[in-house]
Amino acid sequence: MKKIHIKTWGCQMNEYDSSIILKVLKKNFNCKETNHVEKSDLIILNTCSIREKAQEKLFHQLGRWKNLKKKKKIIIAVGGCVAVQEKKNIYKRAPFVDIVFGPKTIHRLPKMIHLIKNNTKNIIDIRAKKLKKFKFFQKKSIPQIISYISIMEGCDKCCSFCIVPKTRGREISRTPEEIYLESKFLSKNGTKEIILLGQNVNSYKGKFNNGKICKLSKLIKIISKIKKIKRIRFTTSHPIEFTKDLIQTYKKIPKLVSYLHLPVQSGSDKILKIMKRSYTILQYKKIIKKLKLIRPNIQITSDFIIGFPGETKKDFQKTIKLIKKIKFDMSFSFIYSPRPGTIASKLKDKINLKEKKKRLYILQKKINKNTLFWSKKMVGTYQDVLVEKYIYKKNKKKLYGKTQNNRIVIFKGPKSLIGKIVFIKIYKAYLYKLKGNLKKKYVKNG
Ligand code: SAH
Ligand code: F3S
Repeated sequence: MKKIHIKTWGCQMNEYDSSIILKVLKKNFNCKETNHVEKSDLIILNTCSIREKAQEKLFHQLGRWKNLKKKKKIIIAVGGCVAVQEKKNIYKRAPFVDIVFGPKTIHRLPKMIHLIKNNTKNIIDIRAKKLKKFKFFQKKSIPQIISYISIMEGCDKCCSFCIVPKTRGREISRTPEEIYLESKFLSKNGTKEIILLGQNVNSYKGKFNNGKICKLSKLIKIISKIKKIKRIRFTTSHPIEFTKDLIQTYKKIPKLVSYLHLPVQSGSDKILKIMKRSYTILQYKKIIKKLKLIRPNIQITSDFIIGFPGETKKDFQKTIKLIKKIKFDMSFSFIYSPRPGTIASKLKDKINLKEKKKRLYILQKKINKNTLFWSKKMVGTYQDVLVEKYIYKKNKKKLYGKTQNNRIVIFKGPKSLIGKIVFIKIYKAYLYKLKGNLKKKYVKNG
């Protein structure tokens, strides 16, 4: 087995899982990744089932790969959340698939591949009590300025619309020692910004070797001690566990960026209740208020679900009102999509698709207006920008970096600035992109 093709759908956690898949396979086989599916010996599809008709999308994709198998011996493996959701159904509709594995059994892939080579057919390996896959993080890494680290997985909440608790299982947190080691390793490889990931990242409760519990606030403090790490972010958090200690972290740890993704889903308490989100809009606003007292410049982004069963025009107006009030900088907003087996999927949905699309359009227009408002507000100010690369590979003049609030900044400067945080005076703003000039004494802290 020489060439592997990995296709990843969904969130950053899936991206992270795919990077581990590659490491696990490289450790066990003499193999390389390829972008050309027809040249590969092993195809892995890492799926996501959060929205849409995920299973249909999967079978369409598999249909396209079916013929490849007729030409040469290829192993096809399906992983991720749709694999957990569909299990043996995958073999009913696509018997040519060889392996069905889950997010927790990635580390067992080499064993599964050996079994297939020895003529075992249609393997299903989904369950695991422990998160062993994370042990593979140390195995050679491509130097990256911004790196993700998954720190916990799964979800113990039960939002009525969400399939994650089913597909990813109950919450499991990695140990702080392991996360620290991974951060340190990444920093030695050139990483300057770390993004901590979890389906519910602020319910992180890792256990120190001595048995004591480490909360997210503590973990951020620990990572911030690594000198080469200059910025820390985390995503996605739930309002209900946005505790005092985490809010105070914004005071204590300057490396924690002034930018937070805190999904609210709806601006109506009635809808939040049916969604089983267990907070009210007032509570949500209070969190933001406290954060703004500590970091007046903090910007907030959110997720919204539009057209949830029972959402009236009045409820929707409440969401719009909240968007105006908080002035959310950006959002991931989608029309509600019933997921198999969830409580919400049994609710009567009376809103027609046209109306849902209209609401989504109105909401996204409002949010875009905010995005441009915040971008324009930055014109004339100095921003600290983490420089990632040249914008064009061939034209080595203009550099590309990001502000704390995730705006791309384009400016002229020398190669030596890549990997550094520099001060840039912004002179032009677009929706997500800014143009600027280097300040004379520009390097922040190396
Ligand atoms: N733990 C996070 C969200 C994780 S899921 C939180 O508490 O908010 C990521 C996002 O997908 C959610 O915020 C939600 O907006 C969206 N989502 C989840 N299930 C969905 C569904 N059935 N239909 C539409 N959007 C959904
Ligand atoms: Fe999903 Fe709610 Fe958990 S959105 S991931 S069930 S917090």
